[in-house]
Amino acid sequence: MTEVDTGMKTALVTGANKGIGREVARQLAAKGFHVFVGARDQRAGRKAADEIGKRGENATFLEIDVSDNSSVVAAADMFAKAADHLDVLVNNAGIIADGDDAILDISDDLLRKTLETNTLGALRVTRAFVPSLIKSKAPRVINVSSGGGQLTGGADGWAPAYCISKTALNGVTSQLATALPNFAVNSVCPGWVRTEMGGQNATRSVEEGADTIVWLATDAPQELTGKFLRDRKEIPW
Ligand SMILES: NC(=O)c1ccc[n+]([C@@H]2O[C@H](COP(=O)([O-])OP(=O)(O)OC[C@H]3O[C@@H](n4cnc5c(N)ncnc54)[C@H](OP(=O)(O)O)[C@@H]3O)[C@@H](O)[C@H]2O)c1
Repeated sequence: MTEVDTGMKTALVTGANKGIGREVARQLAAKGFHVFVGARDQRAGRKAADEIGKRGENATFLEIDVSDNSSVVAAADMFAKAADHLDVLVNNAGIIADGDDAILDISDDLLRKTLETNTLGALRVTRAFVPSLIKSKAPRVINVSSGGGQLTGGADGWAPAYCISKTALNGVTSQLATALPNFAVNSVCPGWVRTEMGGQNATRSVEEGADTIVWLATDAPQELTGKFLRDRKEIPW
């Protein structure tokens, strides 16, 4: 794996082979970060990293399946061999499981699988990368959540396991913000975005979906932590 120059800003984006994650990786690389393109699929991850490299920017593929602790620990070890610190972690990888239709009909397994990726995934990746993040002067963790996880206003019944996993992810954000006082740790709702998950009728482009995530990774005040944001503004939990 390529060694990153000391002094260069570094970012890891999980689920960066497509959708919002790929766009966040692209924008951060364009802003001068050495981006680690996290993906569970080697071919897709390498392709996304190569696309950034072809523009003369810095990207390295990092194999990481956020639902598998041994994969996450191995990725953190690989990362630490390549870079001496991590400035930005974007916990973007997420799923909506097939059959996530009605709260009284979903199986325990469906809920467990969804929590494993969307909630525990973000926590275990953060835990594994804290030793690299604490070596940054201004570490930032961004959890890509969803308005579907908001408790304010009540549930509308759509994708209950997914929404519960994002409510719980917001809990993880709040806990991590307290546990890591020098970090900026926030949740983001990207809005409804045209990706494989969001579908073609979604109202936002991937560029729009990536905007608040990239802002939190770069220009937002370091003191902004423990919040839930959309369009660069705090929204209720
Ligand atoms: N699109 C929207 O409207 C919308 C709205 C609110 C929130 N979000 C959130 O935004 C984030 C990105 O979603 P998206 O719309 O870009 O979806 P997407 O196009 O379906 O991309 C999801 C990404 O997550 C990866 N992923 C899933 N499980 C993984 C695992 N166990 N380990 C590593 N990577 C994994 C996927 O990899 P594979 O290609 O290998 O499957 C893919 O790269 C998600 O957290 C989602 O919940 C999206």
